[in-house]
Amino acid sequence: MTSEAPDRGFGIVGTGVIAAMHAAAIATLPRARLVAVTDVAGKAAAAFAAARGCAAEPGLDQLLARPDVDVVCVCVPSGLHAEVGVRAAMAGKHLVVEKPIDVTLAAADRLIEAARAAGVVLTVISQHRFDPGLIELKRLLGDGALGRLVLAEASTKWYRTQAYYDSAEWRGTWAMDGGSLMNQGIHYVDLLRWCMGPVTEVTAVCATQTHQIEAEDTALAIVRFGSGAVGTILSSTAAYPGFPQRLEITGTDGTVIVEDGRIVRRAFGPQAGASETEGSAGTGALGGAADPAAIEVASHAAQIADLLAAIEEGRAPAVDGQAGRDALEIVRAVYTSARTGAPVRLTGAPR
Ligand SMILES: NC(=O)c1ccc[n+]([C@@H]2O[C@H](COP(=O)([O-])OP(=O)(O)OC[C@H]3O[C@@H](n4cnc5c(N)ncnc54)[C@H](O)[C@@H]3O)[C@@H](O)[C@H]2O)c1
Repeated sequence: MTSEAPDRGFGIVGTGVIAAMHAAAIATLPRARLVAVTDVAGKAAAAFAAARGCAAEPGLDQLLARPDVDVVCVCVPSGLHAEVGVRAAMAGKHLVVEKPIDVTLAAADRLIEAARAAGVVLTVISQHRFDPGLIELKRLLGDGALGRLVLAEASTKWYRTQAYYDSAEWRGTWAMDGGSLMNQGIHYVDLLRWCMGPVTEVTAVCATQTHQIEAEDTALAIVRFGSGAVGTILSSTAAYPGFPQRLEITGTDGTVIVEDGRIVRRAFGPQAGASETEGSAGTGALGGAADPAAIEVASHAAQIADLLAAIEEGRAPAVDGQAGRDALEIVRAVYTSARTGAPVRLTGAPR
C-alpha cells in the first residue's frame, strides 16, 4: 500500500470468539481502525466496544449506514455469512468474511455475486496462507523444487470438548456450522487445494463418535487432483489432546512437511541436490489444537492488510470469494460421498 493510502474504518458483525482476533489484527495495522461493532446479543456488543473504544450499534442496518465504515468483518455463525455479507456488499462495504465462506454452495454463490455486482472487494479468511511455512512452501512449489507433485496429506487432529459444542446453539449443526471438517479442517483443505491445484474426485467416510452433535466429529477422504496426483484429508475434533495441523506435499524430487504453519521437514532427492533439513516444530500449543481462541494474530493481520492493498490497487485479494468457494466445494463433496458411499466428481476447473 502506498503511504498516501487513506485510513479505512472497520465494522465487525458478531462479537464472539473470533471477533476479538479481528479487532486485535485491525489494531496492528497503521491505516485501519475499528469504528463500530454490532451483535444480536446487545450486551456482548456493548462490552466488546467498551473494551476497545469503538461504538456499539444496535443492529446491522445502523452499522451499515455509517459512512466511516469502509470494511465489514463478518464474524457471525458460518450459516449466516452470506446473509450478512450480501447486505454489507449492497451497502457498498468491502468484506472480510470468516471461514467457511458459508455452509452451502448456493449461499457462497449469492455472496460472490453480490460483491461482484457492488464492486466491493471480498476476502474469505484463510489466515494460514500467510503463515511463514506456507509462504515458503508456496515459493518452493512455484520454483518447481519438488518436481511433479504426486501425493499430499492434510491432517487436522484436534480436540474439542462437548462444552465447546454446547457453548453456542449453532455449533455442530448442519444448518449453521457443519462438523469438524467444515469448521476446523477447512483451513488445511484450503491449503491443500492452494498447493496442489483443483480436486476432481472425493471418496469419504465421516463419523460422529465422541460428541452429541448433528454433524461429524471425524472425516476422512481420499482425493484425486486434476494434475493426476492423489491425496488424503483427515479432520477430527475427537483426537485428545489435539495435535499440530499437518500438510505434507510430496513430488518426484522431494517432500515438504508443514506443522502449524511452520516447515518442520524438507527432503530433496538426488535430482534436487540430495539434502534434508529439519525445522523447529514450534510449541504445538499454538494453532487452536485444543483451544479455539489460541491462534496467532499476525496471519489474520496479514490477510486484512492484503485486502486493504487490494482495495488500493484495484486488484483481487490473495484469498478471494472463489477460493473460499473452492474449499467449501471440497468439504461438501466429502459430506456427499460419506452420505452416499460413492465417489463424488468435481469439475476441478483450473484457475
Ligand atoms: N479463522 C479462524 O481461525 C476461526 C476461528 C474461530 C471461528 N472462526 C469462524 O468465525 C465465525 C464465528 O465463530 P465464533 O467462534 O466467533 O462464534 P461465536 O458464537 O463465539 O460468535 C458469534 C457471534 O455472532 C453473534 N450473532 C449471531 N447471529 C448474528 C446476527 N445475525 N447478527 C449479528 N450477530 C450475530 C452471536 O451473538 C455471537 O456473539 C464462524 O464462522 C467460525 O467458523 C474462524
